[in-house]
Amino acid sequence: MSPGQPSVAVLGTGIMGGPMAKNIAGAGLDTRVWNRTREKAEALGLPVAGSPAEAADGADIVLTMLAEGNAVESVMTEGGALEAMRDDAVWLQASTVGIAATERLSGLAEERRIAYVDAPVLGTKAPAEKGELTILASGPDAALDICEPVFDAIGAKTVRLGEAGGGTRLKLVTNTWLLSLLGDLAESVAFAERLGVEPERFLEAIDGPTGSPYAQMKGPMMIKRDFSTSFPLKLALKDLELVLEAADRHDARMPVAGATAESFRRAIDQGHGDEDMSAVFYASAE
Ligand SMILES: NC(=O)c1ccc[n+]([C@@H]2O[C@H](COP(=O)([O-])OP(=O)(O)OC[C@H]3O[C@@H](n4cnc5c(N)ncnc54)[C@H](OP(=O)(O)O)[C@@H]3O)[C@@H](O)[C@H]2O)c1
Repeated sequence: MSPGQPSVAVLGTGIMGGPMAKNIAGAGLDTRVWNRTREKAEALGLPVAGSPAEAADGADIVLTMLAEGNAVESVMTEGGALEAMRDDAVWLQASTVGIAATERLSGLAEERRIAYVDAPVLGTKAPAEKGELTILASGPDAALDICEPVFDAIGAKTVRLGEAGGGTRLKLVTNTWLLSLLGDLAESVAFAERLGVEPERFLEAIDGPTGSPYAQMKGPMMIKRDFSTSFPLKLALKDLELVLEAADRHDARMPVAGATAESFRRAIDQGHGDEDMSAVFYASAE
C-alpha cells in the first residue's frame, strides 16, 4: 500500500472486475473486493469483504464492475454500499449500464451527496488482465483527479468526456460499431463456408484496408469454433439493447443494430449465451 494513494473497494470480480482489482492492488493501492459469488473474489488473493457495505466502508473509491444497471443499483442500495460510503468518497461506476440506468445511478449518488464518476471501459479480458483498457471517464474534475491512480492501474488510455453520462454515451456509440461489425463478420464467415470458400482465404483477403484487426482476432475463433469467453454473448446482447433503448429515446434510426440484436438473440436461444460473443456465429451457421 502506498501512502497518499486512494484506497479502493471493487464490487464485482467477474471477467473484468477481477483483473482490474488485481492491477489496482498491483499498483500499490489498498484494495479490498466483494463479489456475489464469494469464491471468485477469494481466488484473487486480496482482502475479501462479506458484503458490499463492508467493502465500501472507509474506502476512498468504490468501483462497481457488475453485469448491468439493476445489479449495480441493488448492490449499492440493498447491499448497503452507498449508505456505508464516506461522504467524501467517489463512486466510480465502470459497468456498461446505458443512459437510463446512468441517470438513475447518478441520481442516487446525488441524493446521497456522493461524487459520481461514469467511466465505462473499452477492451476485453486480455486488456483488462494487462492493464490496457481505455477508460471513457466523465464526471466532476475533482473526482476524476481522485480516480486517476485507478485509471493508470487499469488502463493504457483515459479519455475525459465532461459531465457524468458522457462516458456512457461514447461507450454506446463504440458498441454500435463493434457489435454490428462482429455480427457482420459472423455472417460473412458462415456465408463463406456455405459457398465453399475457405474462410481463411476470406480473412486473408480482407487483411488490409478493406478489413479490420478485429476481424483477424474474432474470425479465427469462429472458424475453429473456439468460443472461450472474453465477453459473454448474453452481456453483448444487453449492450445492444442499451444501444436500441438510447436510439429510441433520441429518435435515431438504427436498422443494422436492430438486425444484429436479432442475430444475438437467435444464438442465445440456441444455448450460447455464456460463450464468447463471437458465438453469434451460430445465428448464421449450424
Ligand atoms: N468482458 C468484456 O469484454 C467487457 C468489456 C467492456 C465492458 N464490460 C462490461 O463490464 C461489466 C462486467 O462484465 P464481465 O465481462 O466482467 O461479466 P461477468 O464476468 O459475467 O461478471 C459479472 C459480474 O456481475 C455480478 N452480478 C451479476 N448480477 C448480479 C446481481 N444481481 N447482484 C450482484 N452481482 C451480480 C457477477 O457476480 P457473480 O460472480 O456472483 O455471478 C459478476 O461479478 C458489464 O457491464 C460488461 O458489459 C465487459
